[in-house]
Amino acid sequence: DWTMAAFRQEMIEKIRAQVGSGRVICGLSGGVDSSVAAVLIHEAIGEQLTCVFVDTGLLRKNEGEQVVSLFRDHYNIPLIHVQAQDKFLGALKGLSDPEQKRKTIGRLFIEVFDEEAAKIDGAEFLAQGTLYPDVVESVSPHGGPSTVIKSHHNVGGLPEYMKLKLVEPLRELFKDEVRALGRELGLSEAFVGRHPFPGPGLAIRIPGEVTPEKVKTLQDADAIYLDEIRKAGLYDDIWQAFAVLLPVKTVGVMGDARTYEDVLALRAVTSSDGMTADFYEFPWPVLGRCATRIVNEVRGVNRVVYDVTSKPPGTIEWE
Ligand code: XMP
Repeated sequence: DWTMAAFRQEMIEKIRAQVGSGRVICGLSGGVDSSVAAVLIHEAIGEQLTCVFVDTGLLRKNEGEQVVSLFRDHYNIPLIHVQAQDKFLGALKGLSDPEQKRKTIGRLFIEVFDEEAAKIDGAEFLAQGTLYPDVVESVSPHGGPSTVIKSHHNVGGLPEYMKLKLVEPLRELFKDEVRALGRELGLSEAFVGRHPFPGPGLAIRIPGEVTPEKVKTLQDADAIYLDEIRKAGLYDDIWQAFAVLLPVKTVGVMGDARTYEDVLALRAVTSSDGMTADFYEFPWPVLGRCATRIVNEVRGVNRVVYDVTSKPPGTIEWE
């Protein structure tokens, strides 16, 4: 694609012009956006870039390891892997308000990140994979007055004490363009095709209080859901598919015993940029297989429901 090839070249020149001989730190989230930004910047300035991956413990199953191996082993990009799972889960204890959870994660993320950044000698710049819709939604999420309905913790600049200048090469791009750029940069189809994942991670897919046990349950259920979607060949037709662990218990029956366990909601939507979305019309047998496997294989879940709300009036995430 010559447009992307040209954009890539143009961005590389821009990054070099902005950064000069300065050092850049890039926060990797595990998602496509920050990964594409990191690979692009690495191509522009090589060893002047150090990536920092803060593992919040709120990623999808096994995703932390995948990010580390892609960057360290495949791209050979200097990477600091911060194991901050306990810190994040500890800070989330007792919190159930969605915005409080987001703010806590955002604050802690910056704290942990800053601690690492301070160790990188002479760092002047911070790179982020901010996209155009992030910029727009942070100002006016649903086209109305600028009331912040959801604070996206990965946007909005830097706290005073971080004194780093921003490098945001994807700021003018939409998601499909970031994917095209990722392909242009040699990232695998499976990697660039991954569904978007929110910065606060699984914490906003567990309405109510987040506990380590709930995170584990949700990771297992979510992995089965995505596995069945891939097996059915539907993954690429869907913008985002994920599970939400509800703070609701219902009665069920397993063998000849009564159960009283949590409800899991499945969500899948089609969209072109995340600003509006339609619920995805699954073939029923696929949903049926997901429900059967999840109830049989994941302890603590005895009922599965499917969300048929579009955006608007619903949002994609439940919090
Ligand atoms: P909503 O739920 O607002 O989601 O319809 C639109 C898109 O944004 C993602 N999302 C977030 N991403 N931090 C992020 O980085 C957040 O706090 C956040 N909240 C929602 C969501 O996954 C969807 O792709």
